[in-house]
Amino acid sequence: MRVITVANRKGGTAKTTTVVNLAYGFAQANKRVIVLDLDNQGHVMHGLKALGCVQQSDITELPLNTFFTSIVKCADNIYATDVDTCNANTNEEITLDVLRNWCDSEAVTKHFDIVLIDTPPTLSPQLMAALSAATDIIIPATPLPLASDGVQKLLNACRNAMAERKFRATKLTILPVMVEQNLKLHRQELSNWYGRYGRSKVLSPIRKSIKLAEAFAENKPVFAYAPNSRGAHDYTELCKQLIG
Ligand SMILES: Nc1ncnc2c1ncn2[C@@H]1O[C@H](COP(=O)(O)OP(=O)(O)O)[C@@H](O)[C@H]1O
Ligand SMILES: [Mg+2]
Repeated sequence: MRVITVANRKGGTAKTTTVVNLAYGFAQANKRVIVLDLDNQGHVMHGLKALGCVQQSDITELPLNTFFTSIVKCADNIYATDVDTCNANTNEEITLDVLRNWCDSEAVTKHFDIVLIDTPPTLSPQLMAALSAATDIIIPATPLPLASDGVQKLLNACRNAMAERKFRATKLTILPVMVEQNLKLHRQELSNWYGRYGRSKVLSPIRKSIKLAEAFAENKPVFAYAPNSRGAHDYTELCKQLIG
């Protein structure tokens, strides 16, 4: 099962924006996607709920656990966990194995091509479980010196866990987000990333685009809100790169 986890221990680094827009982009490319929102702020649904008529999942055999108390269908090919935002303790039972086994279960592999996981911005059991379940780990970050330091630390931790076979991921990449090409600092830091990690480890950049933020106010992915915007263009390129 392809499991893509989007993670960064810092908040506000476009994790949820990336998950929501990848979910929509993959679905447009005929991939069947389920989004697991492991951040109990429940922001994923803020980006998906106006896509259509959100309804209880019609795939009844999907297993649930204390975290996934409910799964909803957001649109054709897009399902998501509905988070209980009032209860911060619902996910205690999530351990490394529980989530990985869930992703690989027969019901999930039968009905979906991709599991996309959004994560909380803290080192928590949810984050560790999501990293352990991942086949692909994407770290979104803005190309700035301090953000780079956080990326480097998370990359090192993931690499060590992959070497020790605690994580099964084979792809570990950085996604430059909120990039402003007119800023020298962004250009410099991006070029440092290419030099340090290699071009193949740095995904197609997402430029700063206010439409990406506005789309959340309308509870839609940017493709459904502003299909001709920079944000839609950049996430389309990213989708192609990930599934091409
Ligand atoms: N490329 C971008 N350009 C402009 N704003 C963005 C971009 N990506 C994300 N944002 C905005 O930045 C804020 C944080 O993004 P979010 O996806 O919620 O981050 P996280 O999930 O990592 O906390 C949101 O208001 C979002 O709309
Ligand atoms: Mg988020």
